[in-house]
Amino acid sequence: MDSDVERVLFTSEQLQTRINELAKVISEDYKHSNNLLLVGILKGSYMFLADLSRALHLCGCPHFIDFMSVSSYQNTSSTGSIKIKADISQSLSNKDVIIVEDIIDEGRTLHYLVDLFKTRGPKSLQVCTLFSKTSMRKFEVTVKYIGYEIENLFIIGFGLDFNEYFRNLPYVGILSTSAFDKYSSS
Ligand code: IMP
Ligand code: MG
Repeated sequence: MDSDVERVLFTSEQLQTRINELAKVISEDYKHSNNLLLVGILKGSYMFLADLSRALHLCGCPHFIDFMSVSSYQNTSSTGSIKIKADISQSLSNKDVIIVEDIIDEGRTLHYLVDLFKTRGPKSLQVCTLFSKTSMRKFEVTVKYIGYEIENLFIIGFGLDFNEYFRNLPYVGILSTSAFDKYSSS
């Protein structure tokens, strides 16, 4: 499967280093919080959230985790509608919430989720994403924690998929042109 990857953009080691840096900043910002909740957006954020959570532990930052399952993409473009496949079941009141995303592209998913979360009355709400294609933004989203700003490239690995393939890669790369055809769904 790795032969389908044209180029590695971020190695596993580089990702770990950046995630540790993010964890240091977050643990400092939330040092007075006793109710920090990270909400990972599935499926893409599963690896990032797992590593961020462990890095936060090493920084002495206690927190809870939860997940929400959302989808909008087919092939490399958004379908335009957000589907909540599984919601969190806990109340957000009195909680310092950080939504954890793998990547923000046009911002459609996060714009929708931030509005939804605000209606649930958290004590505070911020967004953390490993990748941001900031130049592609069509929907406004305020993102406090960003791992990497990237250009308009379709990337895979470390949770990010192309039609559900490649999530399990421990690094992030770009697909070869032949792999686009091979794994495209009609
Ligand atoms: P947005 O709603 O346009 O911001 O898109 C966000 C979602 O699109 C992410 O949660 C990903 O699931 C998906 N996505 C956007 N860009 C990429 C990419 O380069 N690789 C894989 N998935 C992507
Ligand atoms: Mg996806």
